[in-house]
Amino acid sequence: MSVERTFVAIKPDGVERGLIGAIISRFENRGLKLVGMKLMKLSKEKAEEHYGEHKGKPFFDGLVSFITAGPIVAMVWEGKNAISLARNTIGATNPASSAPGTIRGDFAVEIGRNIVHGSDGPESAAREISIFFSDSELCPGWSRSIDKWVSEG
Ligand code: RTP
Ligand code: MG
Repeated sequence: MSVERTFVAIKPDGVERGLIGAIISRFENRGLKLVGMKLMKLSKEKAEEHYGEHKGKPFFDGLVSFITAGPIVAMVWEGKNAISLARNTIGATNPASSAPGTIRGDFAVEIGRNIVHGSDGPESAAREISIFFSDSELCPGWSRSIDKWVSEG
């Protein structure tokens, strides 16, 4: 298992519903380390770039309107296997079938309001991190004193 970075965003529904703290806690509790975070309002252009893989799909325009409807919290989380760990913590795309205990399974009911985003692989993680953060915005070389209790090294 290699140390990875993944891009996670709390979508406008999660921010509006006052779930920022609860969602961040899920990733902290899991053992992942926060290396970058900002509250921001996405432009239409940036939203279309971020979700570029879905351009042309029937839900694309609605997805772009939704993700630009209010502020999001953009984050980068680091850890061994961080990309799949974060996806497992987030849960299945459609909250109607997300397992209880996952973020979507505990806080959401339908696919167009699924409150959080997570990169789906190493290439999308690198691409998405570079869309939202410059290198200097990612806290470099931060090592937590608890890391030896989270991971064998
Ligand atoms: P995300 O990218 O937001 O983390 O979600 P995901 O990987 O679990 O799912 P993805 O297939 O990448 O879809 C991106 C987002 O588009 C919306 N969606 N709506 N109405 C629909 O059929 C539909 N399908 C996807 C969801 O908000 C989904 O999170
Ligand atoms: Mg996706």
